[in-house]
Amino acid sequence: MDENIVWHNYAVDKAQRSEQKRHKPCVLWFTGYSGSGKSTVAGALESALHQQGVHTYLLDGDNVRHGLCKDLGFSDADRVENIRRVGELSKLMADAGLVVLTAFISPFRAERDMVRELLADDEFIEVFLDTPLDVCEQRDPKGLYKKARAGEIKHFTGIDSDYQVPNNPEVRLDTSKNSLEQSVAQLIAYLKTKNIIG
Ligand code: ADX
Repeated sequence: MDENIVWHNYAVDKAQRSEQKRHKPCVLWFTGYSGSGKSTVAGALESALHQQGVHTYLLDGDNVRHGLCKDLGFSDADRVENIRRVGELSKLMADAGLVVLTAFISPFRAERDMVRELLADDEFIEVFLDTPLDVCEQRDPKGLYKKARAGEIKHFTGIDSDYQVPNNPEVRLDTSKNSLEQSVAQLIAYLKTKNIIG
């Protein structure tokens, strides 16, 4: 860090933005295999929150990789950099007062913990999509598992690239057992218990 770059504090702060929005900011960090339901559940939750007047923003791996992270691939190093950037971006969005929803495989524990450390206590909510790999592979919504099995995609998570299961996620969802409505209800209930939304 350049010693000539000094942090500037502004008059309007996070607390004031939060008060204006009438809810607290947080980052709901969805993690799990491709096809585990991250984007589907995050999207449905965002719709429900939006309807209730909550200010949200959803960051999705496939979309972010078209812009902010389009220079990154799927090596371990690139996945680490992907999560670092999205972690910093989520922090800015939480500072803006938003309920941020992120849907990235985010396969490595160290990077998820790094994002947790970036945020204030209680602001990082790790949501583990605990959908078994064989169910994700059967769904194969983008046909990518088939390509990975055929050797056409290298370093595919769950096939020839690692996924490290969260030890202590705030919320655990198994979309092979629960309906979308049940998953959304479980998350809304969690946000209410933590007084993030009213
Ligand atoms: S992460 O590992 O860096 O967190 P991210 O969530 O951004 O991954 O992107 C994952 C999405 O990219 C998958 O849902 C899938 O559609 C696509 N993808 C393409 N190649 C791979 C790969 N080798 N491993 C995993 N996902 C891949």
